[in-house]
Amino acid sequence: MTPDRNLALELVRATEAAAIRATPWIGKGRKNDADGAAVDAMRAFLATVAFDGTVVIGEGEKDRAPMLFNGERVGTGDGPACDIAVDPIDGTSLTAAGRQNALSVIAVSDRGSMLDASSVYYMDKIVTGPEGHGVVDIRRPIGENLRALAAATGREVGDLRVAVLDRPRHAELIEQIRDAGAGTRLLLDGDVAGGINAARPGTRIDVCVGIGGSPEGITTACAIKALGGFMQTMIAPRDEDERAKAEASGLESGRVYELDDLVAGDNTIFVATGVTDGGLVDGVRRDGPIIHTSSIVLRSKSGTVRRISAEHPVSKWW
Ligand code: FBP
Repeated sequence: MTPDRNLALELVRATEAAAIRATPWIGKGRKNDADGAAVDAMRAFLATVAFDGTVVIGEGEKDRAPMLFNGERVGTGDGPACDIAVDPIDGTSLTAAGRQNALSVIAVSDRGSMLDASSVYYMDKIVTGPEGHGVVDIRRPIGENLRALAAATGREVGDLRVAVLDRPRHAELIEQIRDAGAGTRLLLDGDVAGGINAARPGTRIDVCVGIGGSPEGITTACAIKALGGFMQTMIAPRDEDERAKAEASGLESGRVYELDDLVAGDNTIFVATGVTDGGLVDGVRRDGPIIHTSSIVLRSKSGTVRRISAEHPVSKWW
């Protein structure tokens, strides 16, 4: 059995719940409380979903959370056997600060199809729309990639907008992007939404590039697969110890991980609900007795992009 469309629509209840429960913590400066509330809610809802899920990308390593850890079984145990990647909040600092672009995310694929990259904290990533296939290569300097992408799409490099996490480690990358003539869109956090926006037409981002979390790399890959976009990654260990640990777990330094290496097969589901407002989806909004949520559901089998607005009675939640 494989992940099906009912599962996609069931999973959105879990991201909605996580986003709603995180809401009281928006702007309160306490990211662990926000994350904890989202984790609890997501876990409780996942327990009711009819599938046999194994958490491959969990909270564990990065956020040191005791729940939704790698290897945990989730779901009722009936139904399709799946790998699941969870990020109850991508953008815990954004949430704590009251900033835009925080999302609650779940990605699912067939059992055994997701790369277990938990031994390495960061990955180097590049994401574009479908036009990047056969044109962009993560091993090449960013300037070359931008010129190739511009040529392939009949645009000027100066028209390209490149999302990069605003981190000191990216100072040189940012300089190279600007030297090539393209514009940067610096992200405070949240390279999952950045990657998805790069792969979708009609957004304000053409490319998302740079070093970000490896769990986020796998969840992004599930979305990019559903969007038919282009994505490559390479592991980016922080030191020799981590490199050795990664290699002992089977990951290869210097290898380009293509989309199919990150998540095999053509059966991925990606679900995200906005915690705070962002370019991908709106955040949770309370209007009197109603809580409004806004979600996006992507399925690779059909290539469908669904947007789901839901209204939840406040009385059911508080
Ligand atoms: P968290 O919500 O877990 O803090 O992740 C936010 C995020 O910005 C990810 O989107 C990104 O991949 C990663 O952190 C980047 O890591 P770092 O903040 O260490 O540069």
